[in-house]
Amino acid sequence: MKVLAIMGSPRKGNSYKLTQLIEEELKSRGEIDFEYLFLKDTPLANCLGCHLCIKKGENFCPLSDDRDLVLAKMAGADGVIFVSPVYMFTITALMKNFVDHLAFLVHRPVFFKKPAMIFIHRGDMFKESIRYMERVARSWGFSVVARLGIPDPDDMTPKSRDKSLKKLKTETEKFFRVLKSGKLPSPSLYDLIAFRVWKINALALEKDFPADYQYWVEHKLFDKDYYYDAPINPLKKVVARLLEPVVRMFLRRTFRGY
Ligand SMILES: Cc1cc2nc3c(=O)[nH]c(=O)nc-3n(C[C@H](O)[C@H](O)[C@H](O)COP(=O)(O)O)c2cc1C
Repeated sequence: MKVLAIMGSPRKGNSYKLTQLIEEELKSRGEIDFEYLFLKDTPLANCLGCHLCIKKGENFCPLSDDRDLVLAKMAGADGVIFVSPVYMFTITALMKNFVDHLAFLVHRPVFFKKPAMIFIHRGDMFKESIRYMERVARSWGFSVVARLGIPDPDDMTPKSRDKSLKKLKTETEKFFRVLKSGKLPSPSLYDLIAFRVWKINALALEKDFPADYQYWVEHKLFDKDYYYDAPINPLKKVVARLLEPVVRMFLRRTFRGY
């Protein structure tokens, strides 16, 4: 099984040292091919804000860098770990630039059926950074099955060090179990409603966002309940269906074009 760790620190420092512990834990459980993708060594230009990737399609991005290589690595992995230390209360600028560069994926997610783990070093004190990265990964299609936020064990008292390392083991175990079984949690009500919001967008904004509309047509999504066939709780399915006109009404009241 191939695991890709996307590293957001500008150095091979503490978050790298801790990710190596995750690597060791994973390898002690099974055959794992573990690859690091250091954003600090990966040419990814700053997003220009032109919206072309979102509106017309990712091939219209005027930047020329390693974006497609990064996407290919993510597509080739069975599971992805997003790693960032906390810099000024949140993820690093490198990680944020990576997220912005792939913003079109929130409109047209592709990483379904792939488990993800979020590791924010010092995220124990900055839980919103973990929540943020989880939101990003989910919006790209990943199923976030493990979340870790710990400081550097070398800075800690023996008791809190043990607690952190135990947490590292249990979250890694969760990630490993899903990797191995291939069994992902079924979509939540939030996921089902988000699906319908994007459907409304694709239909309403066909002219302004042709890439989204094309994606929905190509993937034959308009008549579906979710992006892929998955066991869905029938009650959640009904609630999401009933909420669709309510969401549309809200959007109509607030924005033009709906
Ligand atoms: C520019 C900068 C900003 C930082 N901001 C925070 C912060 O807001 N909160 C915090 O707990 N630690 C902060 N830190 C400390 C780092 O999170 C900590 O040193 C971490 O171990 C660095 O991980 P790394 O070696 O993988 O980059 C900051 C460090 C730097 C360099």
